Amino acid sequence: MVERGKIIAFDGLDGAGKSLQAELLADWLLERGVEARVFREPGGTPLGERLREVLLQGGEISEDPLLEALLFSASRRALTLSALEPRAARGAWSILDRSYLSTLVYQGLVGGVDLGLLERMTREVHGEAFPDRILVLDLPPEVASQRRRTRAGGDPGMGDAFERRGEAYLEKVGEAYRSLVRSHSDLCLRVDAKGSSEEVAKRCLEALWDLLPRGEG
Ligand code: TYD
Repeated sequence: MVERGKIIAFDGLDGAGKSLQAELLADWLLERGVEARVFREPGGTPLGERLREVLLQGGEISEDPLLEALLFSASRRALTLSALEPRAARGAWSILDRSYLSTLVYQGLVGGVDLGLLERMTREVHGEAFPDRILVLDLPPEVASQRRRTRAGGDPGMGDAFERRGEAYLEKVGEAYRSLVRSHSDLCLRVDAKGSSEEVAKRCLEALWDLLPRGEG
């Protein structure tokens, strides 16, 4: 029987380096002969990408966190059905750039949607294809903001609907991540995202060591 492929997620504030670290992990695995691919949330499927467009535009949707949570979850369900479950079943790894932890943070702790409801919904959405570990990249909000501004070419107005909400909002989001890492310590690990991408990548591999393919590294 084939060993199930793992599902690893990167989560945390915008600007913490999730996308880059997700790609570096996928490359690390591919170099060792493990089938691996990065999927972004929301997105990763044709339906998910359409929902992403709608969600990141904001407008009427961002006025209701429950409506947002339902759409993020719809995107996640589409990803589970078309990619996460079939890939895990054939032994391929999936690396997620954001995960349901973002829903618990942005729509739950910050947005006010009941956490228990979101957790139950997530169990249904993922079914057997639940993330094996979520690495939460942790960075002080002011450093994350600076990195985002650099990425947006110095124009803070370039960010999406979520990124335009300001520094106090980011503080709140950062605190929500820290509290969820504490209450979900079986699943989530905090990784210090300061320093070079190589240093952070090394910390991420250490945080995944027990899950990585045996005999590797
Ligand atoms: P992200 O993919 O990080 O956008 P970008 O790469 O363009 O910075 O995510 C976009 C926003 O979506 C982010 O600010 C957080 C938000 N989000 C939620 O509010 N809930 C969720 O469940 C997810 C997956 C993302």
